[in-house]
Amino acid sequence: MTSYPALRPRRSRAHAWSRALVAETVLSPADLIWPLFVTGGKGTTEPIATMPGVSRLSVDLLGAAAKEAAALGIPALALFPNTPAAARSDDGAEALNPDNLMCRAVRAIRDSGANIGILTDVALDPYTSHGHDGLLDDRHRIVNDASVEVLVGQALNQARAGADIIAPSDMMDGRVGAIRTALEADGFYDVQIMAYAAKYASAFYGPFRDAVGSGGYLKGDKKTYQMDYANSDEALREVALDLAEGADSVMVKPGLPYLDIVRRVKDRFEIPVFAYQVSGEYAMLQAAAAAGVLDRDTAMLETLTAFKRAGCSGVLTYFARDCARRLG
Ligand code: PBG
Repeated sequence: MTSYPALRPRRSRAHAWSRALVAETVLSPADLIWPLFVTGGKGTTEPIATMPGVSRLSVDLLGAAAKEAAALGIPALALFPNTPAAARSDDGAEALNPDNLMCRAVRAIRDSGANIGILTDVALDPYTSHGHDGLLDDRHRIVNDASVEVLVGQALNQARAGADIIAPSDMMDGRVGAIRTALEADGFYDVQIMAYAAKYASAFYGPFRDAVGSGGYLKGDKKTYQMDYANSDEALREVALDLAEGADSVMVKPGLPYLDIVRRVKDRFEIPVFAYQVSGEYAMLQAAAAAGVLDRDTAMLETLTAFKRAGCSGVLTYFARDCARRLG
């Protein structure tokens, strides 16, 4: 191989136009999925203390948010409800209520006419009085198959409300296949499943649990169902299972500390891979920027481009609107 001085890699970096010309990765608003937290009431915007810049919105405000996102070129929203305490129970039955916050949110966005995809999260934690994603037995173990039955009901409930993408984040075994079978049986042939396939038990979900109000209830951790962050081969097995069970795309979560997983999954399976830049990652960047430690927008663009470089088709990020505005 020829070398210096025949080759000077700095030549192509010397001008902005030249850097743009050789860029291997381009971030665009079409790569972003915007998570929104939903709360009760009317005209209500509740700031979330641990996620500066993010608020829960009441259902009546979602149509406008969806239209704004669509106008910015964001292709999809991800919805998360903060269920009122009175509607939480041991069995998470509110997840099956066709009039729960999630379903009302989906219908409000549909009715607004916003041209945008709607992703709904399947897991019981926003609905249970113990904050776990599945059901507990009398020894406080999370039971798999009985949980899957409820999750299937939850997914159908969301599909009937008009969800486009069902995203199971619960990490129970076999749930993708069970949900796919039920969707087919009910005629929801076009409803996609984006499986949270490699979801790790992570400290970075803390602020999210404040946002959906499950943190205060959660006893113990989620290590018997979410993955051990020491593992990477296991992520490939999880992805293989979810694809075999009928997932259209898969997700890796959290995001930035797990880009090695994204790359392995992309190389192995050649399917659409998404990552979730989770609440703790968002909060870290916001806190660092607020402390004057780094420039927020520059860091935001760098992290989101890194997801794409690692192989992501798109990223769920609380920066979605700000990023799309910045790119626009
Ligand atoms: C619920 C769920 C969680 C997140 C998305 N869906 C939290 C958890 O598993 O405890 C985390 C998202 C974030 O931190 O931004 N199953």
